[in-house]
Amino acid sequence: MWPENVGIKALEVYFPAQYVDQQDLEQFDKVSAGKYTIGLGQSKMGFCNDREDIHSLCLTVLHNLMDKHKIKPEDVGRLEVGTETLLDKSKSVKSVLMQIFEPHGCTNIEGVDCTNACYGGTAALLNAVNWVESSSWDGRLALVVAADNAVYDIGSARPTGGAGAIAMIVGPNAILPLERGLRASCMKHAYDFYKPNFHSEYPTVDGQLSIKSYLSSLEECYQKYCEKLKSKEKLDTVSLNNFDAILFHSPFCKLIQKSFARLAFIDFLNTPKDKLSEKYSEAKQFHHLKLEDTYFNRDVEKTFTTLSKEDFLQKTKPSLLISNQVGNMYTPSIYAGLVSLLVSRSPNELCDTRIGLFSYGSGLCSTFFSLRVAPVESEELLELINSLSYVKPQLEARQKVMPEEYTHILALREKNWQLAPFEPQSDVSNMFPGTYYLVNVDEKYRRTYKRIPNII
Ligand code: ACO
Repeated sequence: MWPENVGIKALEVYFPAQYVDQQDLEQFDKVSAGKYTIGLGQSKMGFCNDREDIHSLCLTVLHNLMDKHKIKPEDVGRLEVGTETLLDKSKSVKSVLMQIFEPHGCTNIEGVDCTNACYGGTAALLNAVNWVESSSWDGRLALVVAADNAVYDIGSARPTGGAGAIAMIVGPNAILPLERGLRASCMKHAYDFYKPNFHSEYPTVDGQLSIKSYLSSLEECYQKYCEKLKSKEKLDTVSLNNFDAILFHSPFCKLIQKSFARLAFIDFLNTPKDKLSEKYSEAKQFHHLKLEDTYFNRDVEKTFTTLSKEDFLQKTKPSLLISNQVGNMYTPSIYAGLVSLLVSRSPNELCDTRIGLFSYGSGLCSTFFSLRVAPVESEELLELINSLSYVKPQLEARQKVMPEEYTHILALREKNWQLAPFEPQSDVSNMFPGTYYLVNVDEKYRRTYKRIPNII
């Protein structure tokens, strides 16, 4: 029988135990007060010192997820990883994660890595869902891991960094199933953000092009998704009213408020002028405009940000908690948005809701899809929410690092990039329980890790 309600059964998020404050960073960078905190909408930025890398981030979040949800290695038939933080041009991060399974004699696990900027996590999730829905499925669970260390060179992009990881259990009868037949993608060739320089951890970025590419992909995906929903459910119109929550890949929170306003603008353009409610009387002057001519139109932006503010606060703001506190995690970003939503709403508020998700990765790949939360308040939903009760206290428990030290740590990472042999120096005593850390890299670039004991 075709498995029903395939989707996310549980999630785990991980972020490093230290952060830099964006207000401190504004002073240190000598930019005008408010540029990062108000202009970009960011409060804190998580980052990795020399003890953490993509392997350790993935090992940490996966092991923590399996511990918490008592997943036995033999229960797992597929493991997918999404990341753009590459340490190796051949060996997958997935193969490193097999260290958790091999001691139990479990090597029959499909899946490798998915890479395309911040989209890799979604590619991994869609692969996992497709596997469970396919003739290849053998009844076991799929696990998805998405992680990145998002660091930028000194300059205007640096405050939009972050770091973290997500792990998800995918299977049938999920609390958060993906809605079947409701996905729309936009994939194009663009040089908006890319990593052509293998000698550096930093990307090459065209900031304005990346924002325009993000917004234009969002619009294409949203319009196509709305058409699919219209036809599937035989509706006359589809708009933001058809969603209880909308989550976005979040490079920085201000872009998300602007993105939400763009969707409200699309709904407005899709409504015949004579059918617009009183609320839009002043906005009618924009009804003749074409979407593609308005990316940087301040009047349109201001008008629709104001008109959509209440909906934004209700449907999207709760999902920006981790983004605001940690920054852009790249591939995990949108799923950290899902965690943020789950820890901000009661089970009763979540039941039977439709959650729209927009995933974007520069270069570019993007998809709009949706989850439909199970209709009744079940034990599983309560368990899922309870399993995330550590998120808010752990965000607060992080250590604040001053910008001077943060800059020094990034300079050291630069200096030691791809160095072998290498022994990291940072203290491990402040790491959260369950965190893996790098012990050394030997002369053949082989990496060894240890784990801070977990408390379950
Ligand atoms: N108080 C309040 N707001 C301020 C202040 C201040 N003192 N100073 C500036 N601002 C506002 C600006 O007006 C601007 O807001 P607006 O766009 O609404 O006008 C905002 O702060 C940012 O200022 P800019 O001058 O536009 O910033 P800058 O060009 O220096 O850098 C950018 C921003 C392009 C996002 C850069 O950080 C970057 O390149 N980041 C990486 C790329 C990125 O994240 N792209 C997004 C999609 S792709 C991805 O996910 C990686």
